[in-house]
Amino acid sequence: MIDLSIRGGIAHIVWNHPSKSQNLINDESCAAYFEVIERVCTDPTISGVLMSSAKSDFIAGGDLQWLLQATDPALMQQRSKDWHRAQRRLETCGKPVAVAISGSALGGGLEVALAAHYRVGTTDPKARFGLPEATLGLLPGGGGTQRMLRMVGAVAALPLLLEGKKLRAAEALQHGLLNAAVEPGQEVDAALAWLQSDKAHAQQPWDRKDFKLPGGSMSSPGVVQALTVANAMLRKRAQGLQPQLLDILSCVVHGGPCDIDTGLAVEARFFAHTVVQPACKAMIRTLFFGMQAANKPAALSAGPQPTPKAQRVGVLGAGMMGAGIAYAAAKAGLPVVLLDATLEQAQRGKAYSEQLLAKQLARGDDAARQAQALLARIQPSAEYTDLTGSDLVVEAVFEDRALKARVTAQTEALTTADTVFATNTSTLPITGLAEASKRPEQFIGLHFFSPVDKMPLVEVIMGQQTSAATLARALAFVRQLGKTPIVVNDSRGFYTSRVFSTYVLEGLALLAEGVAPALIENAGLQVGMPVGPLALTDEVSSELIARIDRQTQIDLGADYRAHPGHIVARQMVEWGRIGRKSGKGFYDYPADAAKQLWAGLGERYAVRPDQPDVQDVVERLLMAQCIEAVRCLEEGVLHSALDGDVGAVLGWGFPAARGGPFGEIHSQGVNRVVQRCEQLCRQHGARFAPPQRLVQMQQRGEAFYPH
Ligand code: NAI
Repeated sequence: MIDLSIRGGIAHIVWNHPSKSQNLINDESCAAYFEVIERVCTDPTISGVLMSSAKSDFIAGGDLQWLLQATDPALMQQRSKDWHRAQRRLETCGKPVAVAISGSALGGGLEVALAAHYRVGTTDPKARFGLPEATLGLLPGGGGTQRMLRMVGAVAALPLLLEGKKLRAAEALQHGLLNAAVEPGQEVDAALAWLQSDKAHAQQPWDRKDFKLPGGSMSSPGVVQALTVANAMLRKRAQGLQPQLLDILSCVVHGGPCDIDTGLAVEARFFAHTVVQPACKAMIRTLFFGMQAANKPAALSAGPQPTPKAQRVGVLGAGMMGAGIAYAAAKAGLPVVLLDATLEQAQRGKAYSEQLLAKQLARGDDAARQAQALLARIQPSAEYTDLTGSDLVVEAVFEDRALKARVTAQTEALTTADTVFATNTSTLPITGLAEASKRPEQFIGLHFFSPVDKMPLVEVIMGQQTSAATLARALAFVRQLGKTPIVVNDSRGFYTSRVFSTYVLEGLALLAEGVAPALIENAGLQVGMPVGPLALTDEVSSELIARIDRQTQIDLGADYRAHPGHIVARQMVEWGRIGRKSGKGFYDYPADAAKQLWAGLGERYAVRPDQPDVQDVVERLLMAQCIEAVRCLEEGVLHSALDGDVGAVLGWGFPAARGGPFGEIHSQGVNRVVQRCEQLCRQHGARFAPPQRLVQMQQRGEAFYPH
């Protein structure tokens, strides 16, 4: 676990977990570490301490499985205090401590390093240094908030702590988090050389590590301003859903003015508060374990042969989505033929990549240096013959079944029998579209999200005849693009659009019932969604919602069930208020000012005198999504609750602090959710009826997740 050897008076501590690919901090490794610290501090033959790792990274941080299971704040506070005591013992034992950091030092790994007196990192371009705990609902509880604050000052520490930014070696050097950065492989020698130099022993006594607050003391005007801004920003950003952010800020405010030991005691208290919060569990579960599972889908390695990667990609349709997909593929190093009805339209699609790259260059983004090579990989075209040789084609033409059937046939006439044909349709069932294909087993849905360059999720949809090999190749392509896939079975609206639309439609239904528009929008923000349902409808456009509804009505015939929200969307279209793209929807969008709610809205949808409590509206907007997500699971559209949570958070901005719709049910408890559904069903109709799956879980006392 942790090896210790002593040579020439220097103790060499090597973190080396025997059964894990990374070093993690948990009860087991803490016990081993504390024992080693005691030994090096008390052994009079040891005059200096070198610490390194036998793994490619130094220490990956706290063991998240261990933290996920934490339920007792008193116990966690004690764990944090024990850790602080051991770190302080090493820090003040009077012997110089140098850390050689192979690869990255993040979270607990960096906290170990910050307690040393000298830190050597490497120039490995993949190496990162930082305290990303906040991004997983956590708080650095191993001294990170206090040492970071005292080493870089409050103004620089706040974004590093609250946003969890991961720094490259050069930035870490600038901040003083590293003392040196050497070629990979040289770090142990460099740290040892420092320990053996006069400098290591000539500096001020090691029992008085001289912490500073560069950039002024805690009460200087600059720091006070930074704290005020941070407080206002994070209250707005997290809508009170992410308690770790306020807890981190509290560590800075309360711990900063004190001596380091008092500061560490403050940190231990807030760490214990944070780590048992439902938001912390939800974020670790979805953003770490969920994404880890989604990025390693079993289907990718299902066949006996390794899955071939895409070599040459065709994109049909150079509109908003096609242009974005072409950019993402070219960025991943793939040659792309971007095809549209005319060469001009195809060129316009390529120009989108030029614009994106120009913006990145203006921001000084490193990646944009490859701009010319990236652009050279995109070949605009209006000739289907240019698709010859593509092993994967993504179709992103207009959402029109007949057109999609035509381009499918045209493509198949020119590509080989093993070319994967992926449609980016957002609403049309895959199995139906595959009827136009001579090779339905090669036909699959790859549902990208807009804007493609920013959105991390791809929903991969299996048609009834899609083969396992096609799925594996589609997943390999998604991985090449650096995106996260969730695999779902075919359904109207698949998983993401189907559940997301319930949020929008419920907002419209509330409006029709006479709930004040501002209350609806505010409730949406309190759910934690990036925008309220009315503003979102304007973005999507009422026209599109009404069109999809019309198509559904035709397709389903007698099985069609209208949602009251659809009536509102239809009315908005009749009144010519289709949404943002026309400058008029629930809001007016003046060219020179911020959007404002449409003044005429009150005349169309009279606001009732008795308004519901905002929390009731929040719950309705949440429950609508949770119920539809469970239906997707019971119908087999989703393979797992965790897939559903990852898809919700990455796909439509469901708040990570709630984990996702299943995470929300888990936090509230299945029993309570079923009872609320029954009440809502009595008040607002059958769309709120609790799904059978939930009722069964209630009867059996089951939960979606163990923690
Ligand atoms: P768009 O209208 O921006 O682009 C469609 C493009 O297809 C146009 O450039 C058009 O000239 C081209 N096209 C038409 N006929 C063609 C043909 N015979 N051969 C080649 N190209 C042809 O549409 P958008 O928004 O890019 O959507 C494309 C597809 O992606 C649709 O199926 C849509 O449902 C889906 N989608 C859209 C999302 C969005 O946010 N807009 C999100 C996810 C999927």
